[in-house]
Amino acid sequence: MIQPLHLGDKTFPVNLIQGPLAGISCAPFRRLSWVYSQPAFNCTEMISCKTLMHKNILAQQRFIKKDPTEGPVCFQLSANNPTELAEATKRVTEYGADLIDLNCGCPVKKIRSKGAGSSLLTDPKKLYQLITAMKQNTHLPVSVKIRVEGGSNDIFNAEVAKVVSEAGADFLIVHGRHWTEHYETPCNHDEIQFFVEALKIPVIGNGDIACIESLKKMFATGCQGVMIGRAGVGQPWLIQKLIAEMTQQTFLMPTPREIAEIFVKHTEELILLLGNEKFAILQARKFAKYYARGLSNRAEFCETVNKVETLAELTKICFDSFTS
Ligand SMILES: Cc1cc2nc3c(=O)[nH]c(=O)nc-3n(C[C@H](O)[C@H](O)[C@H](O)COP(=O)(O)O)c2cc1C
Repeated sequence: MIQPLHLGDKTFPVNLIQGPLAGISCAPFRRLSWVYSQPAFNCTEMISCKTLMHKNILAQQRFIKKDPTEGPVCFQLSANNPTELAEATKRVTEYGADLIDLNCGCPVKKIRSKGAGSSLLTDPKKLYQLITAMKQNTHLPVSVKIRVEGGSNDIFNAEVAKVVSEAGADFLIVHGRHWTEHYETPCNHDEIQFFVEALKIPVIGNGDIACIESLKKMFATGCQGVMIGRAGVGQPWLIQKLIAEMTQQTFLMPTPREIAEIFVKHTEELILLLGNEKFAILQARKFAKYYARGLSNRAEFCETVNKVETLAELTKICFDSFTS
């Protein structure tokens, strides 16, 4: 149910969160989510500690820029070295993070081969050291975002719950899939419930939330909060819509013209962030299919957007398509 969320010494008015999405969750995406939904908080995409420590400040800008108007942000770090993570934790605390999360769910080979992401789920000693390194270097609430055993032969849920609790994490985010499972495999709510029952700290459930029914199903696990991932892309109002539906309030869907305006605004802010129209347009092209969910000529719209090269072209096609 929608209620305030207590994480460490912070309290958020609602318990819905927009989750981290690599390649998507930079400041413009988060700001729109904040403006249209006011979730408990938004998340950065996963930031490798190495990127944070060793790349020049310009190259990092995309990851570390926090806009003053974007509400609370959880910075998500990826690491396998406690000393580096300690330093990165200090840095993101200085950069204005409101919470800090350790990524323990990333299934990508490049990340796993470095002993980070989901590979930490079967390395309890390292996981303990990493959480401790975060806790000792920030006053902010610290969390861990994990995957679950799922239909695999892996056995790690109970050990992970124990380590997360003993190392002093303030809350746990559970994406109910094994790291080898793709999105066709449904989210496993029973395993999320396992963590809810095993832990005294708040558990945030994550996986397959797109509507009120899926949200209710997730809350039925007993989790204290819910994180929304993919469904938030192209509909920054989704969390506000879910809150309204859960609390029997009226929600006014944005008109097609407003959706076009949001897409254009998203792109304009990407241009400002990246300082390069061409790069920003390449990014924006990826978002077309999400913003166009409700368009009858969605495929045609996406095909056209895929060819645009400037903001002016994108703006024209958006207003022509969304208002016709
Ligand atoms: C394109 C994409 C990028 C993602 N990037 C991250 C990431 O950087 N960090 C992370 O913890 N999870 C990441 N995830 C996983 C999501 O945060 C979320 O756990 C997952 O999509 C399940 O939630 P959903 O069914 O609501 O999308 C990503 C997922 C997608 C589809």
